[in-house]
Amino acid sequence: MQDKRQIKKFPPITPKVPHIIHGGDYNPDQWLSMPEILQEDVRLMKLAGINSASVAIFAWKALEPEEGIYHFEWLDQTLDRLHQNGISVILATPSGARPAWMDHKYPEVLRVNADRTKNLHGERHNHCYTSPYYRKKVFEMNRLLAERYHNHPAVTMWHLSNEYGGECHCEHCQQAFREWLKVKYDNDIQKLNHEWWTYFWSHSYSNFDEIESPSPLGEQNTHGLNLDWMRFVTYQTTEFMKNEIAAVKQVDPSLPVVTNLMGTYPGLDPWKMVDVLDVVSWDNYPEWHNLDKPETVASSVSFVHDLNRSLKKKPFMMMESTPSIVNWKPINKLKRPGMHILSSIQAIAHGSDTVQYFQWRKGRGASEKFHGAVVDHCGHEHTRVFKEVAQLGKILKQLDGIVGTTVKPQAAIIYDWENKWAIDDLKGWSTSDKNYEETCKQHYHAFWKRGIPTDVINMDCDFKEYQMISAPMLYLLKPTVADRLKAFVKQGGTLILTYCTGHVNQNDLCFLGGFPGDGLQELTGIWAEEMDTLYPTETRKFHYQNNSLTLTGAATAHTFCELIHPKEHCEVLAVYDEDFYQDMPVITKNLYGNGNCYYLAARTDFETLNAFYGKLIEQANLEVPSKQILPTGVTIQQRYGDGENYWFVLNFTNAEQTITLNEQNTYFDIISNQKTSATITLHSYGFAILKTESVSSLTFIKK
Ligand code: GLA
Ligand code: ZN
Repeated sequence: MQDKRQIKKFPPITPKVPHIIHGGDYNPDQWLSMPEILQEDVRLMKLAGINSASVAIFAWKALEPEEGIYHFEWLDQTLDRLHQNGISVILATPSGARPAWMDHKYPEVLRVNADRTKNLHGERHNHCYTSPYYRKKVFEMNRLLAERYHNHPAVTMWHLSNEYGGECHCEHCQQAFREWLKVKYDNDIQKLNHEWWTYFWSHSYSNFDEIESPSPLGEQNTHGLNLDWMRFVTYQTTEFMKNEIAAVKQVDPSLPVVTNLMGTYPGLDPWKMVDVLDVVSWDNYPEWHNLDKPETVASSVSFVHDLNRSLKKKPFMMMESTPSIVNWKPINKLKRPGMHILSSIQAIAHGSDTVQYFQWRKGRGASEKFHGAVVDHCGHEHTRVFKEVAQLGKILKQLDGIVGTTVKPQAAIIYDWENKWAIDDLKGWSTSDKNYEETCKQHYHAFWKRGIPTDVINMDCDFKEYQMISAPMLYLLKPTVADRLKAFVKQGGTLILTYCTGHVNQNDLCFLGGFPGDGLQELTGIWAEEMDTLYPTETRKFHYQNNSLTLTGAATAHTFCELIHPKEHCEVLAVYDEDFYQDMPVITKNLYGNGNCYYLAARTDFETLNAFYGKLIEQANLEVPSKQILPTGVTIQQRYGDGENYWFVLNFTNAEQTITLNEQNTYFDIISNQKTSATITLHSYGFAILKTESVSSLTFIKK
C-alpha cells in the first residue's frame, strides 16, 4: 500500500561523516614508544575502510602524567595523522580511569562499596561520582581538551567517559542521597516513612540524617529505600555526566556528546540519562554460536538494538562490538565466517548508523590482550578477521542512502528499569526464576519472527503511536500508567498483560483492593487472587476452549500460575486442566472501548506464546513484510526516510534460506546494484538489503 506520510530522514550523526560510521576504540597512547606502529595503523585503517577512530578513552595518564603537567603533543599528532588520512575522530573524555597520582593524593575519588570498604587504586570505572575534587578535575580536563581540539577538523563528537556504571557509598554520596530524598519527600520524614513502610521491624527514621544507603551490613529489606537508592544512583551518575558535558559544551555547543551505554545493564536507567545526550550508543557483545537456538540470540540482540533506537527515536550508534571474539565470557567462541558482517548489518537494520569496534589493535599486555581486534598481534592485514572487516568496510560504503533513515514501529514492548528493580527486589513467589528481561525478550521474539517493527519502551513513554503493546510482568505501576494504558486500549489498541501485573505503586507499596491494582481490573476484566509458583521440573496443563481468537489445543504452564477470576463480559480463552485451580482461566480477553486487553495468567513456553501472538497480530491487522512464515532464524527489518524504504533480510542460520517478500513491490538490491525479484536466496549467515521506493508494507494506527 502507498505510504502517503513523508518520513523525513534525520541528519547524519556528524555532518563531517555523512556515511555509516565504521571505526572503533583506538589507543595510540599504548604505543607511543613504537611510532612505526602508529604509522602502520593509518595504512591498515584505510585498507579496512575505517572512517572513524574513538581516541583517548582511557588516556588520562598520557594526558596528565603528573598533577598539572600536561602532554598533548601525542594527541595533536594522532589527530593530525588521522585527519591527513581521511579518518575522523570521536574524542573521549578520560574520566573512565584515573592515574595513580590522583588516587594517592586525593583518595576521596576512590569508590566506597556497599559493604563500606574503600577501593585501592586500580581497575577502572570506579570513581566516586559525587567527589567534589573529581568533578572539578574532570571539568578542568574536559575543558582543556575542548579548548584545544573543538576546532580540529578531525574531531566530530565527544565520547564521554566509558560505560558509566556501579555505585559509590562514601560519605559524600550518603549526604547527596539524603539531600535528594529531602527534595523528593518535601523534607518530611514522616512522608518518607510512610512511603517506605518503615513501620516494619521498627525501622522508621526520626530524621534524614539517620538514612544510609542499602548495605549487606545494614538495611537491605526496605524496598522503598532500595528503589530510591537505584533512582539516586542514576540521578547522581547523570549529574556527574552533566558536569562533563558542561565543560565541553561551554567551549563549543555544536559538537554532539555521546556515552556508551551497556544494553540492558540493570544498574543505571538509560531513560533518565539520554535527555542530556545528543546521541545514544551502546556496546554489543552477544554470545553468537552458543548452544541456544541461533534465533534466540539474534532476537535478543535485536531487542537491545530496538531499545537503543527507542531511547531517542532516532538513529543510534553501535559504539562497540568485537570483530571476532571477546575475552571475558566463560567460553569465547570465534564469530563464524559471515557472522561479523551479518551482526553488523543487523545493527544497521534496527537503526544504528555506525559499526564500531572494541578494539582496533590488540594490546601487548594486560587483560584485554586476547580480546578480538581488527589488527591482531601478527600486525598485518592477511588475517581472516581483518579481511572480513575490510569486506564489511566496502559494503558500508554502499549504504550512504540509509544514513538518517528510521524505523516506523507498529508494536512496542514495555521493558522498564524501575519495574525491573522492583521485581528483582521482591521476595516471594519464585526468587530464582523471575526472569523479567528474558520474559520481555520472549514476547518481543514473536514480533521479530514476523518482521514487525517494534519499539522497546518504558512505562513513561507515549503509547499512542502503536497498534499493539505488550507489557509482560508490569509489576510496578507509576502514577498515570494505568490510565494511559486504558486510554490506549479504549482508542483501539491491543494490549497484552501477564501474571505479576499491577502489584505495587512507584514506591513498592502494594495496591489495596485486589490485583492488578490502580484500576487495571476494569481494563483486564479480571481479578488476580493468588500466585502459585512451580518447581523447575513441574508444569500445569491447560487447554483452549472455543474462543474468538480461534486458538485450539492444549499447552503447558510453568513457573508462574496465577489464579484469576474473570469479571462479567471477560472472555476466557483457555483454562487450567490440573491442580485445585482446574477450570480457572489462564488466558482472557476483555473488550474495552474500541480495543482489547489480553491477560496471560501463566508463563508458557515460547511456542505457545508465539502461536498466541500469531493470532493477535492477524486479528489486529498488523502488516508483515512477507506473507510466508519466515524460516526459523530469519527476520526482516525495515528503515524508512525521504520516500525510500530499505528492507533488511537477515539469515542467522548456518544454512541457505529462501524468502519471499511482499510481491507488490519492486525491489532493488543495493549490494549487487540491480533489480531483484521478491524471492531471494541467502547463503548461511547471509543478508540482503533491498530498496523500494515510496511504498510501504505498513498501515499506520489511526490517530
Ligand atoms: C567494554 C569496554 C571496553 C572493553 C570491552 C571488552 O565494552 O567499554 O573498554 O573493555 O568491554 O569487551
Ligand atoms: Zn562517593
